[in-house]
Amino acid sequence: MKFYFYDSASDTDQGAAKSFIKMTNGIATPKIGLATGNTPVGLYQCLVQAYNQKKISFKTFLTYNLDEYVGLTKDHPQSFAYFMNEHLFNGVDILEGNIHIPQGNVESPHVEAAKYEKLLEDAGALDVQILSIGLNGHIGFNEPGEKLHSKTHVIELTEDTRRVNSKSFPSFEEVPLSAITLGLGTIMKAKKILFIAKGFEKADIIQQAFEGPLTTDVPGSLLQLHPNIEVHLDKEAASKLARI
Ligand code: GLP
Repeated sequence: MKFYFYDSASDTDQGAAKSFIKMTNGIATPKIGLATGNTPVGLYQCLVQAYNQKKISFKTFLTYNLDEYVGLTKDHPQSFAYFMNEHLFNGVDILEGNIHIPQGNVESPHVEAAKYEKLLEDAGALDVQILSIGLNGHIGFNEPGEKLHSKTHVIELTEDTRRVNSKSFPSFEEVPLSAITLGLGTIMKAKKILFIAKGFEKADIIQQAFEGPLTTDVPGSLLQLHPNIEVHLDKEAASKLARI
């Protein structure tokens, strides 16, 4: 694990964007895993800026999002598909056919999960997976529990996660009960992981994930096993790490 510490959240975004550009530079068809949530918004802004300054082009990129809420159409303002258009895709030259996101509004989410898994298997290991962590230690939507799944699956969201995520919904009741998410196997198979976290509220979970025991109670703790992960943290998120 390689740690990068920054004074501010915006320095973290810029540092992570620089790393992303370096990691993908020279790859003819970069295969990228994308995350949603508040954390990567600043990174995506930096990437749009870098595109406008001609420092990166997404024309040959293939993207695979980590997860999607079950029941939401891609036009729903709280869907991750909508989020990606708003924060990244509309601002860069990515080709629509190269964008992959599980579909939330399908008759059988389980069939959709299996289809998405097949798509990822056919694609092979992702070159870079952008990743952050939920307050309860989830990555993607792999929630804490006795068991973690390796493959893409449908997961019931914990009440904690629904409460945290309700900030972006009109009400708690409108937060979907379940989601389709990549499993730990695919996330860990990525050749490189670009991990970001910012803010004091993440300090405890960052300490547990990167310095605590490996446990399914903190799915992010498995990242300690990844051979090529960069961890970009602002000083608030890093504040409880023993190593700093
Ligand atoms: C979301 C996503 C995760 C994300 C996490 C943290 O629900 N499924 O991929 O890392 O929760 O979100 P935030 O960055 O807003 O703290």
